[in-house]
Amino acid sequence: MADAKFPDDFLWGGAIAANQAEGAYLADGKGLTTVDVIPHGKNRMPIKLGLIESVTLDENEYYPSHQAIDFYHRYKEDIALLAEMGFTVFRTSIAWSRIFPKGDERQPNQAGLQFYRDMFLECKKYGIEPLVTLCHFDVPLHLVTEYGSWRSRKMIDFFAHYAKTCFEAFDGLVKYWLTFNEINILLHSPFSGAGLQFKEGENKEQVKYQAAHHELVASALVTRIAHEINPENQIGCMLAGGNFYPYSCKPEDVWTALEKDRENLFFIDVQARGAYPAYAAKIFREKQVALEVEEGDNEILKHTVDFVSFSYYASRCAAADMNEKNTSAANVVKSLKNPYLQVSDWGWGIDPLGLRIAMNTLHDRYQKPLFLVENGLGAKDTVEANGEINDDYRIAYLREHIKAMKDAIADGIPLMGYTSWGCIDLVAASTGEMGKRYGFIYVDRDDAGHGTLQRTRKKSFYWYKKVIATNGESLD
Ligand code: BG6
Repeated sequence: MADAKFPDDFLWGGAIAANQAEGAYLADGKGLTTVDVIPHGKNRMPIKLGLIESVTLDENEYYPSHQAIDFYHRYKEDIALLAEMGFTVFRTSIAWSRIFPKGDERQPNQAGLQFYRDMFLECKKYGIEPLVTLCHFDVPLHLVTEYGSWRSRKMIDFFAHYAKTCFEAFDGLVKYWLTFNEINILLHSPFSGAGLQFKEGENKEQVKYQAAHHELVASALVTRIAHEINPENQIGCMLAGGNFYPYSCKPEDVWTALEKDRENLFFIDVQARGAYPAYAAKIFREKQVALEVEEGDNEILKHTVDFVSFSYYASRCAAADMNEKNTSAANVVKSLKNPYLQVSDWGWGIDPLGLRIAMNTLHDRYQKPLFLVENGLGAKDTVEANGEINDDYRIAYLREHIKAMKDAIADGIPLMGYTSWGCIDLVAASTGEMGKRYGFIYVDRDDAGHGTLQRTRKKSFYWYKKVIATNGESLD
């Protein structure tokens, strides 16, 4: 059992993303982004995977990002609630298209900068440190239609200009930055992950890994820029985490699990170690990828991140012989079902020990501080007749995962902080539902966009408040 405590300066809080919370999708000059053309319903997944092209709005579809939970207009009320819970960190993202509506302009949209300045100031008012993702699943749509998004090398310059603009505009307000949310999701959900759509018959792997190269160079470049602007800036990479377990001790299963882990860690290997790993050559050979690397790219990649952030919802399972009937796709990554685990209502395996395992793996591999920036239980909540929301299942999930973090700290892992996912209910990234709720704060809105948007504290709100007040000592 854990005999360690959370460090005194441990950052406690929660996370959201612009595209899942802000709404106001065209307000104050904002441009359309990829997520604004991803509807709720049957076309959602094929569009996210880049299999169906969607670059315009269809009046017969419902797009959850357009209003979301209207955080754009209600952030003061929402941040006050987060402050009431005692948050010391709040993770959100900047919508690139609020700052550069098309993505390739040189002059930023001042109204977009003003919105984020005001919002970060609101956080600071309560002593809450913003942790800001520059790109969380929302590429400006114009960059997709005009350049093919990250398949184009030009994106490096557009992204660097956007990032520099943000670092300068919010210098002194924000010091914790993440470059790309769950960068490895580019491989699994290419349109939502990186704005990629495919042409008939082309080698998708070539497109994905070339896009990945551009993102990796862009990430390293802006890491350098952030450090030049202010050496106090702390830049993190962000992995959709969770180890693959071998389905059995059959050596072939163990090997497959190792390869599956490498597929995801590939990105972090570059961002945290500063060069492509040795196994990259084999991946490229097998997938017939001929990577175009320009002179100077490898120098830029040497600018590694300060910390490794990751999301953790579930562990994964792999066997040499994947039985299709027995798979699930927790957080988009395909996995075999683990017979030892309970699952959430959405089939995601619940595995707190898997968090400790993931943390140990990441630290053994990178020797950088870790930051758990997403974790939580997507569940249906019921509002009782008296208005209460008694989400004991969510408390149980979070309690066990916080215990696992404590165990990992006792293992010697440096953990900077914890931002549980969806601290206020928001739109689910995978399904577009509102009914898949993660929050401590309930938002009255349903899957079709009906509801008052009123905010209500859930039972978990009071529980988490106590967790924070006792620095993780009181978990009951
Ligand atoms: C992560 C994303 O993949 O998982 C979030 O970074 C997302 O944007 C979260 O919301 C949970 O997934 P979902 O599909 O339940 O919202």
